[in-house]
Amino acid sequence: MNEVSKVVVGVSGGIAAYKACQIVRGFREQGVDVRVIPTENALKFVGAATFEALSGAPVDTDVFSRVDEVQHVRIGQDADVIVVAPATADFLARVAGGRADDLLTSTLLMATCPVVLAPAMHTEMWNNRATQHNVSVLRSRGYTVLEPAHGRLTGKDSGAGRLLDPSQIVKLTETVAATGPIEQTLKGKRVLISAGGTREPLDPVRFLGNHSSGKQGFALAEIAAQRGAHVDIVAGAIDHLSIPAGAEIHRVTTALQMNEAMRSLAPQADIIVMAAAVADMRPRHAAQKKLKKDDNSQELSQVDLVANPDILQGLGEMRKKGLTSATIVGFAAETDNELENARRKLQRKGVDGLMVNSVAQGAVFGQAHNQGWFLDSSGREQAIPHGTKLEVAVHLLDKVESLHM
Ligand code: CTP
Repeated sequence: MNEVSKVVVGVSGGIAAYKACQIVRGFREQGVDVRVIPTENALKFVGAATFEALSGAPVDTDVFSRVDEVQHVRIGQDADVIVVAPATADFLARVAGGRADDLLTSTLLMATCPVVLAPAMHTEMWNNRATQHNVSVLRSRGYTVLEPAHGRLTGKDSGAGRLLDPSQIVKLTETVAATGPIEQTLKGKRVLISAGGTREPLDPVRFLGNHSSGKQGFALAEIAAQRGAHVDIVAGAIDHLSIPAGAEIHRVTTALQMNEAMRSLAPQADIIVMAAAVADMRPRHAAQKKLKKDDNSQELSQVDLVANPDILQGLGEMRKKGLTSATIVGFAAETDNELENARRKLQRKGVDGLMVNSVAQGAVFGQAHNQGWFLDSSGREQAIPHGTKLEVAVHLLDKVESLHM
């Protein structure tokens, strides 16, 4: 659950500093108290007045303002979480070196709360061994250094080093505050995730589909990518969702296409999560022309259905044949007798685990929160506590990683 009430938003001096304004707004809209601490250089990009107006709190850059309040001590002790966005290469170096030469670095040295750093710089600076060394030093101290996005950088360049979307930074910061630092536990691993619902065409206009939004699958992809994995997402129909930084997306429409995509990516995968809601049936024939209701053919009132392959079960069988060595888990969407049904489903599918959730009365589908149980093939049944879909992703990946080891 989100229990963050006081956030410090640090801003260092890079062009992406303007995006910090949206981060401040994102927190304020949720009723969170925000204190913005820019560096001197950040103020060359965004004025103190902007941050003061957006946060409703005073903005200082050094420890010699409001000395009587000993600001770095008070702010550092009070914060529930500190996020620095953008964190420039120079800023990462200063924090890694333990410097305390302005209000932000002094506050960080005082703080015992979780700290999230969202880097933004050119690809060469991000990949530079000096920066990567600083990043690993900071991670070893328990800081969450987020993986930056790939994309357009300042000027004509494009590559790794772009600041993550402000809304993703807000959500990931809240997740870290709730569940602890994000560590690089999936570095070098390939994680394959299916997400969203399949659509089975009836004619060029109509399809059989379901309520899946893709949010839980994307949340899993986001956390796996932030844990250092190479992530492939096979996505069916999804709500408007931003693609997690570092994830590769493979778009499909039908269950047959999803099956093909999953089976072709499975051999390289270390972990597979089937979070998609796959249609169990498809119309035997998709009409080439729109079916008419006044037609005597009865095609609309009596759709002839044929079973789709069970993708998850098929992946389990691939593993039995030695075609993949991945740890494989799925979901069980149940409306009643959840655990009992899921135990049978786990046996039938022959995979390593199932996250069970109750989807009765509109719960889960399209919602921001989730909860349930994780059942594994050795008979363990563990509760996954209620939380945002990112928090649920953290708990679920912890369980899946422990099976994978
Ligand atoms: N699944 C799949 N292929 C299908 C149907 C489901 O891979 N044709 C996967 C889902 O992605 C999920 C798991 O199997 O990970 C369980 O899906 P669920 O809809 O709960 O169960 P079903 O197998 O469809 O069984 P039932 O509809 O009887 O509950």
